Amino acid sequence: MKKIALFASGSGTNVENIINYFEQNSIVNEYLILVNNQNAKVIEKAEKRNVPFTIFDRTMLNEGTVASKLKEFQPDLIVLAGFLWKFPEAILKDYYNKVINIHPALLPKYGGKGMYGHFVHEAIVDNKETETGITIHFVNENYDEGAIIFQATTPVLPNFSPDDVAKAVQVLEHKHFPIIIEKLLFTNLDE
Ligand code: GAR
Repeated sequence: MKKIALFASGSGTNVENIINYFEQNSIVNEYLILVNNQNAKVIEKAEKRNVPFTIFDRTMLNEGTVASKLKEFQPDLIVLAGFLWKFPEAILKDYYNKVINIHPALLPKYGGKGMYGHFVHEAIVDNKETETGITIHFVNENYDEGAIIFQATTPVLPNFSPDDVAKAVQVLEHKHFPIIIEKLLFTNLDE
């Protein structure tokens, strides 16, 4: 049985989708949800599912509370599922190659500081892109720059609004993210 730590900042549809997926096959039996925003909708979802969660702020992060929670939990994989802060290097050094992120665009395009959620989808529409997609990648010291594990694309039609782009991207995220997580859980990530 595997354990996943899930970092989230917002509505948590990916968190919920991952939990639903592993409920079907019972590969993961323990989660720890770490949330950096006390108003995030993901908290209600965690409560409803009876999944343990911790809400943290910058001080807790800097003073090592999050690091000790992780140490206690001993995750097989750390998954950033809509986590909008930079992942702390102090934690990363203990879990190198075990922290992954999902980004709602085809990196290296539309990545970096400030490029998240709806900002990405607005930029896609403003720039009249004809396709977008998702990127699942390892996390390193720089925003959105770690090695790419998986990408999938979706067309952007001329009449698409940023919300339409968001919906198309979310379909891809929900379809692929749990499958990639499952594969990684059975890959030796220690090298
Ligand atoms: C997702 O689209 C995810 O790709 C994005 O935030 C959304 C969270 O949705 N992440 C980033 O932009 C990270 N740079 P959710 O809370 O409903 O899962």
